[in-house]
Amino acid sequence: MRVYVVDSYGELSAKAALIVAGQVAFKADSVLGLCTGSTPVGMYKELSAMHQKQGLDFSRVITFNLDEYYGLAPDNIQSYHYFMKKNLFDHVNIKQENIHIPDGLAADIDAECDRYEEAIQKAGGIDLQVLGIGRNGHIGFNEPAAKFSAATFLTELDEDTIKANARFFASPGEVPTCAITMGIKTIMQAKKILLLANGPEKAEAVRNAVKGDIDPYVPASILQLHSDCTFIIDREAAKYL
Ligand code: F6R
Repeated sequence: MRVYVVDSYGELSAKAALIVAGQVAFKADSVLGLCTGSTPVGMYKELSAMHQKQGLDFSRVITFNLDEYYGLAPDNIQSYHYFMKKNLFDHVNIKQENIHIPDGLAADIDAECDRYEEAIQKAGGIDLQVLGIGRNGHIGFNEPAAKFSAATFLTELDEDTIKANARFFASPGEVPTCAITMGIKTIMQAKKILLLANGPEKAEAVRNAVKGDIDPYVPASILQLHSDCTFIIDREAAKYL
């Protein structure tokens, strides 16, 4: 695991975008695993600018998002479908058919999870997975639990995650209580992993992930076992390292 500490959110976003752009430049048909939330917004802005100003080409890129809220339609402004459209997909030349996000409205959830896993395998696996980290150490929506999860599944969100994500909703009561998420095994099968974290509220989770025991109650700690994992974190998130 490599840990780079940077001075600002701007630097974190620029460095992360360079890594993703390098992956796409190196392999035009890269399979990218993507996350949502506040953390990657700056990186997506940088990538959009790289496409518009320097012609970074997404035409052969394939993407798989980590997760989607259960019960939200793609056009719901709180959905991760909507987030990705607004923050990245509307600004680059990615093909609609190359975009994959779990279907939060699927009638048969088990079939949807199997379909998602199969699509990842069919695409040849994820070349580069970008992650954020929850205050509780979650990655994707793999919440602290007695054991690590495996494949894509329907999960209940932690109280703490619902509280943290309430900022995007009119009230905490509106935050969905369940989500479809890639499992830990799916994430660990990515060839490369890039985790981003900024701000003091992530410092404890970052310390536990980097320096703590490998413990399913800190899902991100499993990343210590990945052979090509990079953390880019700002000084505040690094304060306990
Ligand atoms: C979202 C995701 C989550 C977030 C995490 C941090 O797709 O997978 O694990 O990365 O909750 O969210 P922010 O960046 O909003 O602090």
